[in-house]
Amino acid sequence: MDLNICVLPGDGIGPEIIEQAVVVLEKVCEKFGHKLSLDEAQIGGVAIDAHNTPLPQATIDKCLASDAVLMGAIGGPKWDKIDKSIRPERGLLGIRKALGLYANLRPAKLWDELKDASFLKDSVIGDGLDIMVVRELIGGIYFGEPRGEGVDENGERYAYNTMVYKESEVKRIVKLAFEIARKRGSKLHSVEKANVLDVSQLWNEVAEEVSKDYSDVDYHTMYVDNCAMQLVRNPGQFDTIVTGNLFGDIISDEASMITGSIGMLPSASIGDGKVSLFEPIHGSAPDITGTGKANPLATILSVSMMLRYSFDLDAEADLIEATVAKVLAEGYRTADIMEDGKECLSCSEMGALVASKL
Ligand code: NAI
Ligand code: MG
Repeated sequence: MDLNICVLPGDGIGPEIIEQAVVVLEKVCEKFGHKLSLDEAQIGGVAIDAHNTPLPQATIDKCLASDAVLMGAIGGPKWDKIDKSIRPERGLLGIRKALGLYANLRPAKLWDELKDASFLKDSVIGDGLDIMVVRELIGGIYFGEPRGEGVDENGERYAYNTMVYKESEVKRIVKLAFEIARKRGSKLHSVEKANVLDVSQLWNEVAEEVSKDYSDVDYHTMYVDNCAMQLVRNPGQFDTIVTGNLFGDIISDEASMITGSIGMLPSASIGDGKVSLFEPIHGSAPDITGTGKANPLATILSVSMMLRYSFDLDAEADLIEATVAKVLAEGYRTADIMEDGKECLSCSEMGALVASKL
C-alpha cells in the first residue's frame, strides 16, 4: 500500500518524538512492504517564527494532499506573550477545522506492565483500565458565536461564549462513538449536563434516537460532574465515553491521568474526510526539551492508531502495540515511567529499541 504522510513536528520535544515515531513507521512499512512517502510542514511556534502565522496555507495544502497527518506538539514559553490571534494553539484549532476533524479519540489505557505508575489503588484499578473518550472537536463553546467582551452601563466588564450544537453535529459524533463502542466493549456513556443546559437536552434527544440503531451497545447517559467523580471512584465501569468539546477536553485529560503516564497516550482526530490527524496527548514539554528525556511511546502509539484508522492496517497497528508491551514487560523505561534514580533509556534509544524488536 502507498502511505503518504504529512509530518508536523512542531515545537519543543515535538521534533524529538516525531523522529523516533518515524523510525518505527519506516521499519513497519519495510517489514510489510508498504511504500512510505513523508512530507514535512510547519505548525505552531516554528511557523510563527518563519511566517508570522501558526498555520501557513502551505501546511494546510500539504495536509490536504496527504493520506494522514502525524503531529508532534506545539507551543512553549517563547510564544506565550504574543498576540492571541496568532498563538501556537490557533494553529492546532485551525488545522482541525480545515480538515473537518470533528472527533477526537483518546484511548486511556493502563498498561499491565505499568500498573505501578497509576496513583489509583489496586482495588480501584481492578482488572485494568481501558477507556476510549470520544470528544466532539470542532463545535460547542470553543467555536460558538456570538463570543466577545464588553462593558455594561455600570462600567463593569463582561465576557461571553456560546455553547451551541446543531442536531447534525451531535448525530455524527454520537454515531461514530456507537461504532467505536461496538468494536470495543459494547458499552457507551454519553456525558452531558442536561439538568441545566438546553444544549445537553438536545444532545440527549439526538443520542437516544441514534441509540435505536445500536441495540447491541449498552447505552447510558451521565452528568459530567458525576462522570468526573466516577472516573476516579470506579473507572472500570467505563468502556467508551462520548461528549461535547468542553466536557471532553476536561474528561479526556482526567481519564488519561488516571493511567498515570502522559508520555504513553496517543490520540486520533478524525472526520468524514480522507485525512485524519494523529498526535500524542501531551504538549511540547519545554522543561525537558533537548535533554533526551522525552518518552516517544505516545507518538509511536499514535502511529499505530494512524495505521488502524486511516489505512485499516490492523496487523501493523497490533504489531506496534504488542512490541511496546514487550519492551515494557522486559523492563525498559524512559525517565517519566521509571522510578527515580534508576537507569533508563533516552528518547532515541527507546525509539530504536521498539524499531529493532518489531
Ligand atoms: P506538557 O504536556 O508539555 O508537559 C506536562 C509535563 O509532562 C511536563 O513536566 C513534561 O516534561 C511532561 N511530559 C510531557 N510529555 C512528555 C513525554 N513525552 N515524555 C516525558 N515527559 C513528558 O504540558 P504543559 O507543560 O502544560 O505545556 C507545555 C506547552 O505545550 C505549552 O505551550 C502548551 O500550550 C503546549 N501544549 C500543546 C499541546 C499540543 O500540542 N497538542 C497539548 C498540551 C499543551
Ligand atoms: Mg486539554
